[in-house]
Amino acid sequence: MKTKYFDLIDQTYDFPQEEFQLKDNNLEFHGIDLKGLIAEYGAPLKFTYLPKISDNIQRAQKWFAKSIKKHGYKGKYHYCYCTKSSHFQHVLNEALKNNIHIETSSAFDIDIVNHLKSKGKISKDTFVLCNGFKRDKYINNIADLINNGHENCIPIIDNYEELNLLQSNINGTFNVGIRIASEEEPKFEFYTSRLGIGYKNIVPFYNQSIKENEQVNLKMLHFFINTGIRDTAYYWNELLKCLKVYINLKRVCPTLDSLNIGGGFPIKNSLAFEYDYAYMIDEIINQINQACQEAKVDVPHIFTEFGSFTVGESGGAIYEVLYQKQQNDREKWNMINSSFITTLPDSWAINKRFILLAINRWNEEYERVLLGGLTCDSDDYYNSEQHMNAIYLPKYKKDKPLYIGFFNTGAYQESIGGYGGLQHCLIPAPKHILIDRDENGELTTKVFAEQQTSAKFMDILGYTK
Ligand SMILES: Cc1ncc(COP(=O)(O)O)c(C=O)c1O
Repeated sequence: MKTKYFDLIDQTYDFPQEEFQLKDNNLEFHGIDLKGLIAEYGAPLKFTYLPKISDNIQRAQKWFAKSIKKHGYKGKYHYCYCTKSSHFQHVLNEALKNNIHIETSSAFDIDIVNHLKSKGKISKDTFVLCNGFKRDKYINNIADLINNGHENCIPIIDNYEELNLLQSNINGTFNVGIRIASEEEPKFEFYTSRLGIGYKNIVPFYNQSIKENEQVNLKMLHFFINTGIRDTAYYWNELLKCLKVYINLKRVCPTLDSLNIGGGFPIKNSLAFEYDYAYMIDEIINQINQACQEAKVDVPHIFTEFGSFTVGESGGAIYEVLYQKQQNDREKWNMINSSFITTLPDSWAINKRFILLAINRWNEEYERVLLGGLTCDSDDYYNSEQHMNAIYLPKYKKDKPLYIGFFNTGAYQESIGGYGGLQHCLIPAPKHILIDRDENGELTTKVFAEQQTSAKFMDILGYTK
């Protein structure tokens, strides 16, 4: 009978996969010897494998280039990185190697833009698309950037008042975009997104506030679907509605030349993940092309703002199973040496699933378990995988350490988890390792941050003042 953990994975999924291989019964991720990483740095740890960021950007750029060529599409494609998915310098430095642009969400993002500019990582030709609800500080920072000559900074109007606020702070003419408030999926808790301006109000807003306005050029229409870019009737329907607005606007607004379709590309959250990125891009280009040709308006340049897709698949978290508690006949709790709530907050807050695999002991028997975090919060657990209503791992043995890895965790988890700040039950944020490849393709590792210390907590909590 096949009862080894390897057999289970092998029978359930197509395994090995491009990024997941087995060597001596231990898991490798993109050729990284994870057991060796643990031997060197200990567990728990988080890591970022930087080359995956460039890899994904280049994949998307190629898919768009291919479809643009295939359809004879007359517009250009611009890849923007949505900084809120991970603001870290190492992430932006890697992403910016690939001739990309930036999308920002708040005032402090502009300080990052200025810093990157001072380091020569971005230039005044880099598009800086400013989304989000804009309060004074954000307006001032955007205005400073534009007043200092960054003409490719395009604030995306999220509410009517922003236009006046920008005009009072910016000296010359400037470009803007308008965000469409999309209609949410029928099963959602509300009908229309709070972000942006309703479909019906966009052309009237343009006619009333921008058309005769000598200081402002409307350049971009922005459209982001909360549920992401999916091959569903809902997505295609919303895209068509958006294209109608674009066409109506283009007929009265000659400066409009760009369509921003936001972020929302999914990432691999299971070994059974299937998504045809190239097909989706091809169909988007095709739909835009056709709609514009039928309406006899020029096609727009296309912008995307991929966050998860850029950085998600570069990250991982590794934990050690510390102990097993059997609370009844059926429920075995494997306790990890960290917390899910603080290190993978989306797993708790929005029930997000990541790829979960054992790192060692693949040739041993498996068992069904639940995973518990170290905080005393009953919600600090992980109990199923994306395509399996359970978790199976090699059997717990007191004298044989078991390590587990969560993969593709690189987007949003640090900012939502309040990286470097207070943590639930004061369970410290783990060590963070950066993994790269040198010019010969050899792997390199370095510590980005040590595990959080008690002194850090004591300081935040005011005990050292
Ligand atoms: C305006 C905008 N653009 C881009 C993104 C990035 O989305 P994702 O990480 O799904 O690519 C978001 C995410 O909330 C967003 O609100």
